[in-house]
Amino acid sequence: MLCIASLLSLTAITAVSASVNPIVIKGSKLFDSVTKEQFFIKGVAYQPRGGLLTGTDPLANESTCVKDAELMKALGVNTVRVYEIDPSKNHDACMNAFASAGIYLLLDIATPKHSINRQTPEYDLNLYLSFAAAIDAFAGYSNTLGFVAGNEVSNDKTTSAASAFVKAALRDAKQYIKSTKSRYIPVGYASNDDQYIRDAIKDYFNCGDDSSRADFFGVNLYEWCGNSTFQKSGYSERTKEFENYSIPVFLSEYGCNLMTPRPFTEVEAIYGPDMTGIWSGGIVYEWSQQDNSYGLVQIDASGNVTPLPDYQNLKTELAKVSPKGVSMDSYSSNTQASQCPAQNENWLASSNLPPTPSEGGCKCMTDSLTCTANTNTFSAGGNDTAIGDQLNYLCSNYNCSDISADGSKGVYGAFSFCAPEDKLKYMYNFASAGDSSKCTFDGHAMAAQPSQSDLQSCSKIKATSPNTGINGGKVNSSSTSASTSIFGQLNFSILAALSSAPLILNAAQNFM
Ligand SMILES: *[C@@H]1O[C@H](CO)[C@@H](O)[C@H](O)[C@H]1NC(C)=O
Ligand SMILES: *[C@@H]1O[C@H](CO)[C@@H](O)[C@H](O)[C@H]1NC(C)=O
Ligand SMILES: *[C@@H]1O[C@H](CO)[C@@H](O)[C@H](O)[C@H]1NC(C)=O
Ligand SMILES: *[C@@H]1O[C@H](CO)[C@@H](O)[C@H](O)[C@H]1NC(C)=O
Ligand SMILES: *[C@@H]1O[C@H](CO)[C@@H](O)[C@H](O)[C@H]1NC(C)=O
Ligand SMILES: *[C@@H]1O[C@H](CO)[C@@H](O)[C@H](O)[C@H]1NC(C)=O
Ligand SMILES: *[C@@H]1O[C@H](CO)[C@@H](O)[C@H](O)[C@H]1NC(C)=O
Repeated sequence: MLCIASLLSLTAITAVSASVNPIVIKGSKLFDSVTKEQFFIKGVAYQPRGGLLTGTDPLANESTCVKDAELMKALGVNTVRVYEIDPSKNHDACMNAFASAGIYLLLDIATPKHSINRQTPEYDLNLYLSFAAAIDAFAGYSNTLGFVAGNEVSNDKTTSAASAFVKAALRDAKQYIKSTKSRYIPVGYASNDDQYIRDAIKDYFNCGDDSSRADFFGVNLYEWCGNSTFQKSGYSERTKEFENYSIPVFLSEYGCNLMTPRPFTEVEAIYGPDMTGIWSGGIVYEWSQQDNSYGLVQIDASGNVTPLPDYQNLKTELAKVSPKGVSMDSYSSNTQASQCPAQNENWLASSNLPPTPSEGGCKCMTDSLTCTANTNTFSAGGNDTAIGDQLNYLCSNYNCSDISADGSKGVYGAFSFCAPEDKLKYMYNFASAGDSSKCTFDGHAMAAQPSQSDLQSCSKIKATSPNTGINGGKVNSSSTSASTSIFGQLNFSILAALSSAPLILNAAQNFM
């Protein structure tokens, strides 16, 4: 008995987690919820990849993250931005290592596998569930600072309509946290810096209903190259643009590498009097040296980490700054939410957002069909191309509005959020119009015995929040459906390729 008792208490001791004071938002600023001091993000993007790395989750490998956390602490950073994790893995060791080093996490819940596709935007159930799984995996840590619901999705005026879908996903992530977590964790968006849309997009994410507004806004800003200045770099204009902004804004990526080694002279501006009244700091792109040459450290094949000249330069610059903030109690925000931007040739996204994906609605729909997909359509040789080809065919010959979504018109079909498979079933039923002799489509479709009889009523079934503890179980990570679309130029093979493109391409696009 004694033995067991002491074993148990040992376990209890090792399970005690390091903790930091949670960060909260008041007005346009971040604060330490306990000391009430203003918090400035001194961050680094953390996504080591390639080489010996076996996965894409930097918060699941204790042997690497513990070393990295030490070096980051010595560098002077207090936040990591992580772009992709696997919610089914255990993150306790890494999150504890970062908490012990005083480092917070900003987590992208939109990933290459699960995100809105900017060319063919669509917000479906699978994306909703994957956001919920990532939130479940990280909401319990005191050093989780915030979630990023999209990174550079609309990145020019041709892709602006995609923001309607991102904002809907962001809205639902907020609601999910509110209804299932004991601590609210903010959800925001990270934008590129496109001259045509930068003004509209910052307002778009901070306008309308409180329930759908972003809690913070990030700008991936690569304007300051080499030994530039606040005026010459463009930072002064960017700062002016946010002078009345009512939510926190920070540089969600920075660190132009056109001149190397990077002197990081922008650090003095970001944490100095020109910017601290408006911005809440920034995140240097990025920790490890990769093919695109933004690394602060070199990680070799055996996992040894060596600081590069950029690391030393950044360390020197960070050591010079100590941003002066305000105290939470004495601060009162007098700014208001933005006006939704007018729709024009630069900005197409409607402020009418897509509905919350309703699992019950989709199930009711598939249960109500008298003509459905043959199981072979999805199994034997069935793939996204096959589904896409079928939908292409059906939507060029029949009215697909019930399964389509248009973010510029703000019009969303009743089943526009269902999985591609379910949309295809719906269209076989629609196209055969109750005539079982038409329910063939070259053997792809077959007659079905519906267990429900009122298809119309299915569209009225509201979404329910998924239960806690999904932890990836319900999410089909091998599926690309979150990034596929049946609206517009249908091409699932292109979509599948796009959906696996790494986020990092987005960052590089800023100044190419
Ligand atoms: C920036 O200025 C410093 C000090 O004047 C100089 O040593 C350094 O070479 C310059 N770096 C770049 C990239 O221009
Ligand atoms: C901020 O608000 C002031 C006062 O209403 C206004 O004069 C100014 O133009 C606004 N700035 C921006 C960037 O909208
Ligand atoms: C953790 O990282 C090290 C060093 O890169 C690597 O050798 C090891 O295989 C990784 N472990 C896992 C479980 O991915
Ligand atoms: C996917 O299905 C299409 C059409 O049935 C077929 O031509 C293609 O070879 C399949 N692709 C794969 C990777 O199985
Ligand atoms: C397609 O159906 C929708 C809704 O049922 C309708 O508003 C629209 O006019 C139809 N489009 C065409 C081209 O018939
Ligand atoms: C996930 O999707 C793949 C491919 O579409 C399918 O083969 C598999 O059965 C699905 N798994 C689950 C758990 O739904
Ligand atoms: C879809 O894209 C693939 C790859 O680019 C191309 O081969 C195929 O013809 C396209 N299909 C359609 C229906 O446009």
